[in-house]
Amino acid sequence: MARRAKITGTGMYVPERVVTNEDLAKLMDTSDEWIRQRSGIAERRHIEPGQTPSDLALAASRRALDAAGLDASDIDCIVLATLSPEADFPGTSFFLQDKLEAGDTPCFDLRAQCSGFGYALSVAKSFIEAGQFRRILLLGCEVHSTGLDFTDAGRDVAVLFGDGAGAVVLEANEDASDTSALLEIRLHAQGKFAKKLWVEAPGSGIAPARMTHELIDQGRHFPHMQGKFVFKNAVTRMPEVLIEALNATSLKLDDVDLFLFHQANLRINDYVAQQLEIPPEKCLNNIQRYGNCSAASIPILLDEAVREGQLERGQVVAMTTFGSGFSWSCAVARY
Ligand code: UT7
Repeated sequence: MARRAKITGTGMYVPERVVTNEDLAKLMDTSDEWIRQRSGIAERRHIEPGQTPSDLALAASRRALDAAGLDASDIDCIVLATLSPEADFPGTSFFLQDKLEAGDTPCFDLRAQCSGFGYALSVAKSFIEAGQFRRILLLGCEVHSTGLDFTDAGRDVAVLFGDGAGAVVLEANEDASDTSALLEIRLHAQGKFAKKLWVEAPGSGIAPARMTHELIDQGRHFPHMQGKFVFKNAVTRMPEVLIEALNATSLKLDDVDLFLFHQANLRINDYVAQQLEIPPEKCLNNIQRYGNCSAASIPILLDEAVREGQLERGQVVAMTTFGSGFSWSCAVARY
C-alpha cells in the first residue's frame, strides 16, 4: 500500500483585538459601506503590541497537536508558510520551533504568499509519500498589521488584511481501509506579474542597506497592489486550477463536499462559485470576520469547517488559492 498523507489535526488562532471598518475609518478616508461592498469584510484581527507571529503560530499549533493527540516531540518536521516573517531571517518557524520546545526538529519557512499553504501542503505531501517524514506540522501564519499604511495613501490595501495563524498536522496513512488522504495538489506561478502585488523594500537588491530614507518617505516598504488586475486574474486562475486538480483525480465538481477558497475578496469567491455553478452552501467564507490572512486563510477556514462539523471524515474538500507572485494552487483531499 502506497504511503499517503492524512490530515489528523487542525487548529487556528487569531488575536483578541477586533478592528472594525469603523475603527479604520477614523484613521483614513474610507467607510464601512465601501469596505463591505467591495470586499465583504466587516472586521479583522490585529495583534497587541508585543505579540509576534510565532505567538499566533504557537497557539494554532497547540490546538492542531491536541486535535491529533500528539505532542510537539512527536513531530518530524515543521513547515510554516508566510509572507510576513518575524525576522527577515531565519523567518518565523525557528521561533515557533523554540517555543514548542521541539528539540532539533527540522523547520523552515516557505514563501508563496497567499498560495503559501497550498505550496506547503504539496511539500509536506511529498515528504510523507517519499517516506522522509511521518508526521509534519504545517502552518500558515501572518502578521500584516505591523506592515500596512493606515493613511489615505494605503487605504486600498490596509483595509483588506488581517492577522492570524492556522495549523494542520499531516501524518502518514498506511491503513488500506482508511481513505483519508491528500489526493492531488496543483501549483502554478507567473513571475511576470510579481510587481502587481508586492512589497518592494527592504530588499537585498537595494544597496547599500536594503532600505533608504527615500523609499520609506515614498511608502515603498508597504504593500502595493493593482487591485483590478489582481481581481481579474484571481477569478480566471482559481476555477482553472480547481478543475485541473479535480481532473487529475477521478472526482467531479459534484463529488466535492466543501470548497475553501482563499479569502481575499468575497466578490471573487462568489463569482468563482457562480461560474462553476457551485451551490453557495458548499462554500465556506470567513473573510467577513478576519479579512485576508494570506497564507493563514485556508488553514483557519479548514479548522473552522472541522470544528463546526462542516467537514466530516470521508468527505472531499477542495482548497484553492490565488495571490502575489502571482501564485495559485488547488489541493483536493479526502478528509
Ligand atoms: O490576497 C491576494 C490576492 N488579492 C486579491 O485578489 C485582491 C484583488 N482585488 C480586489 O479585491 C479589489 O480590486 C479591491 C477590493 C482591492 C478594490 O476593489 P475595486 O472594486 O477594484 O476598487 P478600485 O481599486 O477600482 O477602486 C475604486 C474606487 C477608487 O476611487 P475612484 O478612482 O473611483 O475615485 C479608489 O480610490 O475606490 C477608491 N478606494 C477606496 N475608497 C474608500 C480604494 N480604496 C478605498 C477605501 N475606501 N479603502
